[in-house]
Amino acid sequence: MEGKVVVITGATSGIGQVAAEKLAGLGARLVLVARDKARGEATLARLAAIAPGVAHSIHYADLSRVAQMKQVAAEIAAAEPRLDVLINNAGALFGSRQVTEDGLELTFATNHLSYFVLTDGLRQRLLASAPSRAINTSSDAHGRARLDFDDLQSARDYGGFKVYGRSKLCNILFTRELARRLAGTGVTANCLHPGFVDTRFGDHSGGAFSYVIRLAKPFAISPEKGAQTLVYLASSPEAENVSGQYFYKCRPAAPSPAAQDDAAARRLWLESARLAGVEP
Ligand SMILES: NC(=O)c1ccc[n+]([C@@H]2O[C@H](COP(=O)([O-])OP(=O)(O)OC[C@H]3O[C@@H](n4cnc5c(N)ncnc54)[C@H](OP(=O)(O)O)[C@@H]3O)[C@@H](O)[C@H]2O)c1
Repeated sequence: MEGKVVVITGATSGIGQVAAEKLAGLGARLVLVARDKARGEATLARLAAIAPGVAHSIHYADLSRVAQMKQVAAEIAAAEPRLDVLINNAGALFGSRQVTEDGLELTFATNHLSYFVLTDGLRQRLLASAPSRAINTSSDAHGRARLDFDDLQSARDYGGFKVYGRSKLCNILFTRELARRLAGTGVTANCLHPGFVDTRFGDHSGGAFSYVIRLAKPFAISPEKGAQTLVYLASSPEAENVSGQYFYKCRPAAPSPAAQDDAAARRLWLESARLAGVEP
């Protein structure tokens, strides 16, 4: 990864943080997108300690807000003429339904639309830097999820885990459509399930989920293990020509039938572009 530039979201904690550290250890220069100054500076300091002399950098954005998704993508595109790997990894689960000032349900905005908008804003940089890679952190929580295009904001039917699962289904459908659109350009798009990982995930979800996750965490794998597939997809020569796949334990795996629905993937793309106000 010597000399390569990696943009990553959600690297102030958990899986993303370990992945950023590993990639810095392999020689990459990291460009972080974070919302919290103290955690952002702490992550940057750890990266500096791993790779002194490499100019890792950070941009701040609340990735639940459309204007900030666009702004941070524009800032990075202006600052970084080349981009070898984009890792969309930030995510959360919310026990109760919340709506952003954009009128979007918070899980959908944070976990799916931020991936879509950031990738859209950095697409030209990825294309110009090919061979390059886009990687989206999904989850096996997508397994039972179904998308209702008449209620993408889950206004009629909200459950924290259910809506989280839908957002992770969106990650896979988005990856498939992105890979289809990028075919032949040298830019690959893949997604992954990291495993059940002991991170800060769920700690602030509220409601029953935080309680259940606290009970389950002793059975979770370490963030080091959880970051392995992400690091593999970002750095492995083996993964260089693979695109449109869902990975688990560094191998392609079959996602749910709903996650293999190419018509739904196309429709989600168009709907996401409309909601975000970007060219489809
Ligand atoms: N842990 C698991 O078992 C598991 C399993 C499957 C998939 N995943 C997925 O793995 C990814 C990483 O999760 P994790 O387990 O590492 O959880 P985590 O420790 O809670 O880390 C989540 C990261 O996302 C960032 N983030 C959340 N909302 C944001 C927002 N609005 N704007 C900017 N950044 C935001 C957090 O920033 P702050 O530091 O500011 O909070 C943090 O850096 C997520 O996409 C999650 O869905 C996790």
